[in-house]
Amino acid sequence: MGGQVDPARRAAVALLNGVLGEGRMLSDLLAQPAGPLAALEPGQRARAQRLALAVLRHLEPADRLLATHLRKAPPVEVMNVLRLAVVEMLVDAVPPHGAVNAAVALLRAGKRTTHQAGLANAVLRKAAEAGGDWAKLPPQRMPLWLRKPLVGLWGCEVVSAIEAVEAAGAPLDLTLRDPSQGSLWAERLEAEVLPTGSLRRRVVGQVSELPGYAEGAWWVQDAAAALPVRLLDPRPGERVLDLCAAPGGKTLQLAAAGAAVTAVDLSGPRMERLRANLARCGLAAEVVVADALHWTAEPFDAVLLDAPCSASGTIRRHPDLPFVKDGSEVAGLVALQAQLIDRALGLLKPGGRLVVCTCSLLPEEGEGQLAAALARHPGLAVEDLAVPGVPEGWRAAGGGLRLRPDHWADRGGVDGFFMARLRRAG
Ligand SMILES: C[S@@+](CC[C@H](N)C(=O)[O-])C[C@H]1O[C@@H](n2cnc3c(N)ncnc32)[C@H](O)[C@@H]1O
Repeated sequence: MGGQVDPARRAAVALLNGVLGEGRMLSDLLAQPAGPLAALEPGQRARAQRLALAVLRHLEPADRLLATHLRKAPPVEVMNVLRLAVVEMLVDAVPPHGAVNAAVALLRAGKRTTHQAGLANAVLRKAAEAGGDWAKLPPQRMPLWLRKPLVGLWGCEVVSAIEAVEAAGAPLDLTLRDPSQGSLWAERLEAEVLPTGSLRRRVVGQVSELPGYAEGAWWVQDAAAALPVRLLDPRPGERVLDLCAAPGGKTLQLAAAGAAVTAVDLSGPRMERLRANLARCGLAAEVVVADALHWTAEPFDAVLLDAPCSASGTIRRHPDLPFVKDGSEVAGLVALQAQLIDRALGLLKPGGRLVVCTCSLLPEEGEGQLAAALARHPGLAVEDLAVPGVPEGWRAAGGGLRLRPDHWADRGGVDGFFMARLRRAG
């Protein structure tokens, strides 16, 4: 029983321990130089990450199944090994003997877990036999602080559809530096061209190994996240401010359109990533690390504000978020977003256009912010514009676009976003 420890599985469990045991975001754990993935080669890193994400997307059904075979829940690090084996067997269709032996080996190798190896073996074999019941278990739900207002807004059916898309995970979306080369790159990357111009690959794979990565022909950006710049519609030579810019997906789009871009963000490390992204893609922008609330400059032709938010629209790509956030940050973020909108308007020429967006599902970070900004600023107008490829049904009643993860569900969904284009009085 047991055998060699698989380094990718061990790292996946370490990531799960960080998220579920210590309440840390996966992005922080992955960015740590001495983090759980540090010693792994790129292929193993990608696999470890994929395994941890799969467990987080199916944690609730996995726990329900395990609970029927456990008299009491073991410590979190043991539980995470069991969860991984259940998800591998029942979601990834890994043969039970392989998943169970790997779990037993992992537990045997840990001083604090070795005595649980026998129990794990028995529990997992029973869970494997009960595999047929897996499909009957309710899928992973959003946390109550998010679920409740969304059920009130859109109803149970829509919320369940969103949760189904979140559990299925996200495909890989790419934005092209030269949007006219869609079919060429779609063929090279074995990707589909979405109606809005983004490329979508069903198989995520190892991004840095894909054709076109090294030469900067594209960057990773969810199809929904690519729309605010399309709504802004930057023109060559225009002075455009990208406020809250890092890690820079939208800065790259603006620069690729030929705008003279100034990118501002508070976070030095995130701006290093923006610089690296610009360099890889051979694009240029003025990069400023500063607090947008206090930074000042000559007014711009156009401003894009991608304000910090709950990120509740990104759970299909960040399934760790529901386990780390409890909604207590939202009120503070809503207040900051309103301040940033006022600041953005102050940095805009009369008659200039401002796109505001958040990757949130909560109306107080989207529709509510728009209505409040219009009320605070007489003369400010919301522009009702069609973005090529965006279905009519995505338009929000009070102006702007409301994107939900269950939009294009059959294609793999999109991130939840709200975005609107405003025009300052001339
Ligand atoms: C949603 S992210 C931006 C994503 C980015 N626009 C992109 O497309 O890659 C929000 C950003 O706001 C930045 N931020 C938060 N508060 C800020 C402030 N007061 N001034 C400037 N940037 C701020 C954060 O560092 C974070 O990078």
